[in-house]
Amino acid sequence: MRRMRRLRKAGLRDLVAETRVSKKDLVQPLFVDERLRKPVEIEAMPGQKRHSLESLAEEAGILEDLGVPALILFGLPAEKDEVGSAAYDPGGIIQQAAARIKETSKIVVITDLCLCEYTSHGHCGLIRGNEILNDETLPLLGKTAVSQARAGADVVAPSGMMDHMVEAIREALDKEGFEDVPILSYAAKYASSFYGPFREAADSGYAFGDRRGYQMDPSNAREALWEVSLDIEEGADMVMVKPAMPYLDVLRMVKDEFGMPTAAYQVSGEYSMIMAAARNGWLDGEAAMLEALTSIKRAGADMILTYWAREFAEKVGSGVE
Ligand code: PBG
Repeated sequence: MRRMRRLRKAGLRDLVAETRVSKKDLVQPLFVDERLRKPVEIEAMPGQKRHSLESLAEEAGILEDLGVPALILFGLPAEKDEVGSAAYDPGGIIQQAAARIKETSKIVVITDLCLCEYTSHGHCGLIRGNEILNDETLPLLGKTAVSQARAGADVVAPSGMMDHMVEAIREALDKEGFEDVPILSYAAKYASSFYGPFREAADSGYAFGDRRGYQMDPSNAREALWEVSLDIEEGADMVMVKPAMPYLDVLRMVKDEFGMPTAAYQVSGEYSMIMAAARNGWLDGEAAMLEALTSIKRAGADMILTYWAREFAEKVGSGVE
């Protein structure tokens, strides 16, 4: 008789495990706030901070020492305006941050590339009335990419879901001699309620409407293949599905269809839900973290952007893996 339980004994389980998460798969998102001299806790994301430039550089060093290969930066500027000037200011916070990290660390610096943290209305593009403009936004994304690359970003990651953003960014980078800077495109990014805590973290709530006019409808999976194929044609080097756990089916389809280096973003809400439940004693937070990361890897992610990157790396070797 076939007995599936034969291989489920302690010890044997490890040998037959199909999926293993490594700290080498992980990217830590970090927030840097131009107005801060000391880090502050993000209430909605227990354990996560908004950093000052100095505490950010320190955190980058810790991650590097722990063996986390990369971080992704989100900037909070001192001033916002209608056109998001601080996003493409050569002296902007994210440019300062990339340069500062590169002074003391070799960790891979990915820069989130979007206008929403820098616009007074909080949308990811220029606006006319209540309309979010696509083509008018593209040159600004190109400019932002170039300024980030010039500051030392190793990878740029456009997250605004403007059509043809990858093409505009690739052209702008190539023209300025940054042919070797890869693009990680947030290719299939859904209009998700799971970004809730991020709004506090990045101070990026919006003044009107929502993002459903440019981010994807959660009902659609095949459409994600379209989105991703367009970004690949336009020159994306790596593609992302975001959020992760509610969209594991999409992640699997994208990986199978294109075989591209594929990232999944385990977003703020996915993090905060587990943290909140763990704090209430409703589940074992560490076990849930590990299960969530394993599921994302199993569904096809080559890399995972996760707020647990540091904690995971700290616990590897002490039994988590
Ligand atoms: C901005 C951006 C968002 C996130 C990453 N980049 C918010 C949004 O699109 O509304 C969300 C990340 C998270 O929730 O952890 N373009």
